[in-house]
Amino acid sequence: MEKNFKRTLITSALPYANGPVHIGHLAGVYVPADIYARFLRLRGEEVMFVGGSDEHGVPITIKAKAEGVTPQDIVDRYHAIIRDSFAELGISFDVYGRTTSETHRKTASDFFRKLYDKGEFVEKTSMQLYDEQAGQFLADRYVTGTCPHCGFERAYGDQCEKCGTSLNATDLINPRSAITGNEPVLRETSHWYLPLDKWEPRLREWILEEHKEWKPNVYGQCKSWLDMGLQPRAVSRDLDWGIPVPVEGAEGKVLYVWFDAPIGYISNTIDACGDDWEKWWKDPETRMLHFIGKDNIVFHCIVFPAMLMADGTYNLPDNVPANEFLNLEDDKISTSQNWAVWLHEYLKELPGKQDVLRYVLTANAPETRDNNFTWKDFQTRNNSELVAILGNFVNRAIVLMHKYYDGIVPERGELTATDREVLDSLKRDAEALTAGLENFKFRDALKAAMEMARTGNKYLADEEPWKLIKTDPERVKTILYVAAQICGNLCVAFEPFMPFMAEKLSRTLKLKELSWDMLGSDSIVAAGTVLSEPELLFEKIDDSVVEAQVNKLVEARKANLLKKWKPESVKATVDFPTFEKMDIRVGKVLECRKVPKADKLLEFKIDDGMGGRTIVSGIAKFYAPEDLVGKEVCFMANFEPRKLKGVVSEGMILSAQDADGRLVVIGPTVAVRPGSSVG
Ligand code: 2FM
Ligand code: ZN
Repeated sequence: MEKNFKRTLITSALPYANGPVHIGHLAGVYVPADIYARFLRLRGEEVMFVGGSDEHGVPITIKAKAEGVTPQDIVDRYHAIIRDSFAELGISFDVYGRTTSETHRKTASDFFRKLYDKGEFVEKTSMQLYDEQAGQFLADRYVTGTCPHCGFERAYGDQCEKCGTSLNATDLINPRSAITGNEPVLRETSHWYLPLDKWEPRLREWILEEHKEWKPNVYGQCKSWLDMGLQPRAVSRDLDWGIPVPVEGAEGKVLYVWFDAPIGYISNTIDACGDDWEKWWKDPETRMLHFIGKDNIVFHCIVFPAMLMADGTYNLPDNVPANEFLNLEDDKISTSQNWAVWLHEYLKELPGKQDVLRYVLTANAPETRDNNFTWKDFQTRNNSELVAILGNFVNRAIVLMHKYYDGIVPERGELTATDREVLDSLKRDAEALTAGLENFKFRDALKAAMEMARTGNKYLADEEPWKLIKTDPERVKTILYVAAQICGNLCVAFEPFMPFMAEKLSRTLKLKELSWDMLGSDSIVAAGTVLSEPELLFEKIDDSVVEAQVNKLVEARKANLLKKWKPESVKATVDFPTFEKMDIRVGKVLECRKVPKADKLLEFKIDDGMGGRTIVSGIAKFYAPEDLVGKEVCFMANFEPRKLKGVVSEGMILSAQDADGRLVVIGPTVAVRPGSSVG
């Protein structure tokens, strides 16, 4: 159902202030939200773009405990890092608040209290998981276990990050305390529950009937969640970090972080505009959009809307354009393994390249499925698209106008069919660009903008004004006038995606105020405009830069694994006769080669003192075949022969696995005759 809205409230998920933000957060949430906010502002619409830090919840207290500092220390540190790095990337929040603010404490308490007074909660006593050694209840991320829906073994007590299902801690199979690793016991406690089941019919109608236009990934998740049937959800916790439950007799209980965090959007709006905040949340002519990652869908489409319905005076979101996840170098981004590109480090290590990151993350945005970021692709997109196409065209056009006309945009003469086709194509690209943005298809939109630059590049290459200047100087004026219009269009078209580049270009083109109306126009930059000198928009990125980044990732992951490594616990005791059954011998490697069509396998010919044997071992990733020839190794001599990729392996070469996963072959420290027994 198309509605006419007067203004748009854009919210972007509040990142937990327990660490810096990485490219996965950016690609999934903040870059698209910012593109959209900038697009609407260019259209002259009234927009409020709300961000902020999520400073409650278990992720914060776990981090504080790990570092031996207070939760407040943690959130103060990371709130500042996150806020500043967003600003440096050009994420144009109208407000960036925090959920430990006084405004938020009051807003969230009042919200809870109103629902409590209206009788919207059910108070229930139940058995909850408790860690006796730590002396506390285990909720949310304090407990991990197997997801009852998908079998993922590291699901949290409030959500399975694999299948997105929102869980209760007691749903987990084989729960373990994240504090001590112990198996929790059940202990009685009472909490307030929001009966989501009460809102299920309205949620069904609202999402499944009225919002069929939502992205399939969002709609699909909501549908399967609704089809499973909604259960009452606890909105309080037995924790000492959070907003105290504003009810008498609730000592030691705080609001569940997923109850208070989305209210943070409201608190931050209040911080931004004081008494005027209600028009953003309650006026039916305001359109609300939540930009989030897929792990937040259930909270923004089911739980928060149910809270808003229970209050009864708020708008519901008009759309929730959630993205899937971004992988990094073909692996899942992992904070705990330090497999991530952290924004604050990127900004330090690649200064002045904010737009490149914004561009690459948009071109590779995980809009419909998980997507991948690689440093190689980052380099290629920079060098072959931003430098070779966009930067090259703009620079050429402006340099030529400086060279031939002292930087003054020439008057055009009669347009040729080619000129008209070029100008028409700008209009078509502008339409595609607008449609892409309107439909949250930012990748398509970016492609349409880039198409304008491709057109410009081709136009100059085909028309060759540098040759014509000698034979037909009048024609060159028209060509460069058209080129100036393409530059003007590029400036507007790219502003939402690459605001730093657009600012530089608008300075050069003397475009005072950009607006979306200018797009597609054949007279953005008036003849007679005195252009400034061109500024460098993009520069080539060398191999050494991206190689350093990949090395950094690999080293960080290794260091992290080594730091966390603990020897495996010792297996069940075996008696001597059992041990004696294993026949371990020393052998000498005579030959070694890779097994064809098997990445991991090496085939050995071993001198075993008994005429020799063949052994296949899965260590190809850690050794070149020639490294091992002539070496003495230990092997299991009475291991049942097995066929591996067509080769019969008559034993097993012994190796140790180091903390980083590397396999190291084990052999005697001094020469021993092949065939000698080990034991
Ligand atoms: O998943 C997260 O990182 C949460 N901190 C998002 C919260 S969004 C909102 F509700 F505040
Ligand atoms: Zn699951």
